[in-house]
Order: sequence, then structure tokens, then C-alpha cells
Amino acid sequence: DLPGTLTLDNITYNTDNVTNIPSTLPAYLTRNLHLQPSHPLSATRQTIESLFPASLYETYNTLSPVVTVAQNFDCLGFPADHVGRSTSDTYYVNKHTVLRTHTSAHQAEKFRVLDAVGKPGYLITADVYRRDAIDRSHYPVFHQMEGARVFSRGGGGDVAAEVMAEVERMAAPGVEVVESCAVYEDGNPVQVAKGHTAAEAEAVAQHLQRQLELVVSRVFGEAASATSTVPSLAAQEKLKVRWVSAYFPFTSPSYELEVFWNNEWLEVLGCGVVRQDLLDYAGHSDKIGWAFGLGLERIAMLMYGIPDIRLFWSRDERFARQFADGVVRRYEPFSRYPQCYKDVTFWVPDAFHENDFMELVRGIGGDLVEDVKLIDEFTHPKTGRKSMCYRINYCSLERTLTNKEADILQEEVRAALTEKLHVELR
Ligand code: PHE
Repeated sequence: DLPGTLTLDNITYNTDNVTNIPSTLPAYLTRNLHLQPSHPLSATRQTIESLFPASLYETYNTLSPVVTVAQNFDCLGFPADHVGRSTSDTYYVNKHTVLRTHTSAHQAEKFRVLDAVGKPGYLITADVYRRDAIDRSHYPVFHQMEGARVFSRGGGGDVAAEVMAEVERMAAPGVEVVESCAVYEDGNPVQVAKGHTAAEAEAVAQHLQRQLELVVSRVFGEAASATSTVPSLAAQEKLKVRWVSAYFPFTSPSYELEVFWNNEWLEVLGCGVVRQDLLDYAGHSDKIGWAFGLGLERIAMLMYGIPDIRLFWSRDERFARQFADGVVRRYEPFSRYPQCYKDVTFWVPDAFHENDFMELVRGIGGDLVEDVKLIDEFTHPKTGRKSMCYRINYCSLERTLTNKEADILQEEVRAALTEKLHVELR
């Protein structure tokens, strides 16, 4: 980069005195984990997308993370002094441009095109960026999924009644709402935004809540049967959820959905009835709607039992291959150290027993051998002799094994094979 500029995703930006993007960050912009085939974040995204009919929800998965301060904060009604705007929380490209801190940065632009697209809703999945603490569940880059849906209030119909009629048909199997928080409290409407009747807000909030209960029912239902080691979470038990009142500058009323999982209440998403001025600005004063945003890593970690958020960024195929077939099952930890494969091929005598070979390898490699697999077997058409090829995977649990060390072990294995098992090496 030239002095005073920064290139992100092939576009060059001017920097200034608020720029705070570390040199390590730009590389993350091109990873697109949520689009990688067989990545757990991509699988989680697809599971959730499948619950939103494509006829009603337009899907956006490739929106650039570089957005204006207006998109990320101003248009959504964030006050000028909101902590989220500070350079200690947000990555600034320059004083007008940030790496989006949430997918809501695209709300206004995607509301604006609803009619052009011809669908009353959308789903956005994207990488988002926040300066934060370091621990097993926080990473400066993570992925969010945002959804929104609008309902027409025009034409003299009663939108509240129409939405409620739809709500009656929505039921999430296997979910028990143990605490809910409605638009009314003690008979009085609370948090109803300007421009909404309490009945409308209530109906839209109910629609939102039932739709999201469907999401957690599906996601956690699958996870419970696949990964739970806790008997109380067996598939036949209902998933306990609760709705908690929350605050977001762009929705009212606002809620968080919490799920009771492994004996704790976990917050899984934020949502609410979209403030009417936002829809008005986007050209939809005749509509009312809801929006939600959820963190994909958090959900995927629970779904697959992935213990550390850094694993999502792993390029190790031992991570990726566990998700290749799309089946939800518990993630199996692998050694943190690299593997080193060595193959050995030999003609076997009639009395060959595989376990003798295994024991011989174990005797030489000890715990430095992670696994041994038969990768090829062949019988010579003329002589009838049988040949086997085994792949030995050398991998320490405690340190990085050098290729030279693996070569020495492999030589010992080869020598012992001829000496002790009387095989003929090929
Ligand atoms: N964008 C909010 C967040 O990141 C979540 C949210 C989305 C809340 C849409 C309400 C509506 O926390």
C-alpha cells in the first residue's frame, strides 16, 4: 500500500488519523467461511436458510464488509455518543468508512429494494468485525445472519388480524417457551414504536418470535440428538427457550432469545419490530416489519460441540473433513500439531496378521503415531501374491514432529518389517 492508503478486497481507501486496521486483518476479508463448501459455518447458514422460503426471502451472501459510518450506525439511529462507534470497539478504514460491526449495516439498502426484488423479506449472511477481548468464544472476525420480513398495511386490510392468522399456523416442534415477553405488560402496551398500533406491533412481534422459535427448534433439535452427552437433552425432551426484553436503536420492541443448553441460559440472537422511520426512509411507509440478527459461530459451536472459535479458521483438513458430508455430529478434537504421512508397501506372507503389523508400528512409533490406515491392497494376477500399502500418520500430541524424525521412525518400521514379519518390501 502507498503511504496514506489501505487496500481491502482490491479496493484502495485513503487512511487518516482514525484508521486502526491491523496489518493482519485484511487477509480475513477474503476467506468467506460462510460460503466454503463443507465448512460448519456454511452448513449452519444453509440449515437456517432452509427454514425461510426462497419465495419470500431474498438471500444475500456476498456483500462487501467495507461500509460507511452512515450505513453501520447513523441510518440505524445509533446516537452520536454510542460506545459501539468508538475506535476502541470498531475497525475504522477512515473516519467515514468502517468494517461492518453487524449485518444490520445493510438493512436500509435491502429494505429499499424489496419491491424491486419482489419479495417481502431477506436474509443476509456475512463476516462482521469487532475489536474485542480474546477468549475461546471471541474473535475479531465472526459471522452474522440477519433476516427481515415486512407486511403490507395498505389496501384497507387489518394487518394485525392478517399477521395473527398466519401466526396461528406457525408452530415450532419441540420448543417450550418458559418465559415470554409480549408487547403488553399489565395490559399496557410497552415499547411500541411511533407509527405502530399496539395490536400491529404485537402481531408482528408474535410472527417474529414464532419464526425464530422454528429456527432454534431445528438447529438445536438436530444438535441435541447428534451431540448431546447429557441425557436430559435427549431428542424427546423439549428445548427450553425464553424471550428477554432488549434494546437496539433500530427496533422497538426489541428482544433477545435465550436457549437453555448444557445447564445454562445462552443468548442466541437479537431482534425486534423495525422502527417505522427506518421503513419510511426506505420508501415503505405502507409496511410494518421485523428483523433479527444472530451470530453463526455461537450457534455452530453449540450445534457441533466445537470448543474454540479459532478452529473455524483452521486450514487443517482434519477440521474440514469432519463436516464434509453435511451430517450434524459431534466435532472430534484433533492434535494441535501437524501430521506427517508415510506410506509403506510390501508383499505379505500367507501368515500375515494385520494386528502384528499394528503392534510393530506401535512398538516403534509409540504415541507419535496417530493412526495407521490400509490404503491399498492388491493380489498379483499371475503369482497370487498379496501386496498391502499402509499409510502411517505420525503426529505428536505435544510438539511439532519434524519430517526428519518421521523419516527415521519410518526407516525403523521398514527394517523391523523384514526382520520380524518377514515381509518383502516394495
Ligand atoms: N445487529 C444486532 C447486533 O449485532 C442484532 C439485531 C439485528 C437486532 C436485527 C435487531 C434486529 O447485535
